[in-house]
Amino acid sequence: MLEKWLQTSNYFVVFTGAGMSTESGLPDFRSSTHGLWRKKDPSKLASTEALNNNVDEFIQFYRERVLGVKEYKPHKGHHILADWEEQGIIKSIITQNVDGFHQQAGSKRVAELHGTLQKVHCQACGREYDSEEYVNKEYFCSCGGVLRPNIVLFGEVLPEDAFQFAIREAEKADLFIVLGSSLSVTPANQIPLIAKDNGAKLVIVNQEKTEMDMYADELIHDRKIGELLEALN
Ligand code: NAD
Ligand code: APR
Repeated sequence: MLEKWLQTSNYFVVFTGAGMSTESGLPDFRSSTHGLWRKKDPSKLASTEALNNNVDEFIQFYRERVLGVKEYKPHKGHHILADWEEQGIIKSIITQNVDGFHQQAGSKRVAELHGTLQKVHCQACGREYDSEEYVNKEYFCSCGGVLRPNIVLFGEVLPEDAFQFAIREAEKADLFIVLGSSLSVTPANQIPLIAKDNGAKLVIVNQEKTEMDMYADELIHDRKIGELLEALN
């Protein structure tokens, strides 16, 4: 059915999670094989609590993540999605990912619900730097404040402009495809339901079951994202 819906859709929106970038070499969070949160407690690392009271471990953890997004690159699937936007097939991408790979591959209309690891900012004066600073072990602003990645941590709210954009796009979609997310994190996991509630066909492509499978019009659990996108291209 997916091929048919791709032909007939007038407003196709894509939603991506960490599974979109595992084929670039970045680990996801919850997959049974190599999810990050199977080895580390996220609330002890990826939270404002960690940033304020466990800053050395926080910096070490995020320095590794920044090194990852600087070392690895978008894969063919990211480039196919960018080509599809260029051809008018895709209207936008809503992503939970912070690697910036969709934009690097050429996608323009991208909402980053959880921010980006490509930038860091000073907690005192707000000045923004490229996250190369973290790679170069620069953790302090010229004003003396502590630098932190521009991502959403556990317990923080999502950037309002990205979240509102995502809601508007979900309301307009007639085809909404999830690529590589367990859909286990609120409020991001509500966006596919908004699309469904507004009449979109909902397709979930994920190697494992997700928390929203029961709402999908089509489930694809047996294909890797990169391979599926190449087959559809
Ligand atoms: P994180 O795990 O701290 O995620 C922050 C987000 O988690 C917030 O949006 C929040 O709503 C949500 N959250 C709040 N409480 C939660 C809970 N109890 N369980 C699960 N989620 C909860 O993120 P991080 O480890 O700081 O990583 C930053 C970003 O890295 C995340 O937003 C994640 O999307 C992302 N990531 C990206 C890639 C990639 O870019 N390829 C790969 C893995 C992870
Ligand atoms: N093809 C298809 N599915 C894949 C692939 C692939 N190549 N690689 C991984 N997956 C699937 C995994 O099976 C897993 O279920 O992608 C899913 C990724 O889910 P999570 O690891 O939970 O990542 P995500 O859904 O993005 O996490 C949501 O949780 O910690 C927070 O903010 C963080 O944004 C993150 C949010």
